[in-house]
Amino acid sequence: MKTTALYPGTFDPITNGHIDVIHRATRLFDQVIVSVLTNPSKTPLFSTDERVELIREALHSHSMDSVTVESFHGLLVDYARMKKASAIVRGLRAISDFEFEFQMALVNRKLNQGLITVFLMPHEKYTYLNSTIVKEVARFGGDVSQFVPENVQAALIDRLSR
Ligand code: PNS
Repeated sequence: MKTTALYPGTFDPITNGHIDVIHRATRLFDQVIVSVLTNPSKTPLFSTDERVELIREALHSHSMDSVTVESFHGLLVDYARMKKASAIVRGLRAISDFEFEFQMALVNRKLNQGLITVFLMPHEKYTYLNSTIVKEVARFGGDVSQFVPENVQAALIDRLSR
């Protein structure tokens, strides 16, 4: 049977660290669905559709045929059931990530015993990287070219210079 994993997140916006995790996930699973959360309680910089599109564009040059990008809302476990996914992939960069990730993994396991959370460590050069930091640097005119794909950099400049 083919294995399907979800890689869920806010991805506001996707960073090179996320792409590193996606690469690693493709080595473990037949199909990886990058799952962008529509969260009504957050105000992201980019809309759900924009985030999905930015990820699709960014992955285009990586020729990862087993990866698709979708959005979801509601509970992750319900979405996983709908997609017949057996695993959730999350990136773990540092100890500081651990508490939240541990809690989320255990809640998801309580809600669906059959769903396994797999933590993947991105390359250590991305340890410090997250979407919030990237937006902060971009907002003050800093160079984010080494943190995000080119299309994301252009979108950040466009959005933040308005
Ligand atoms: O990139 P993020 O913001 O750290 O991703 C968090 C995400 C989207 C994986 C998490 O908030 C999530 O799965 N939300 C969906 C709602 C849900 O299932 N909550 C229960 C588990 S915490």
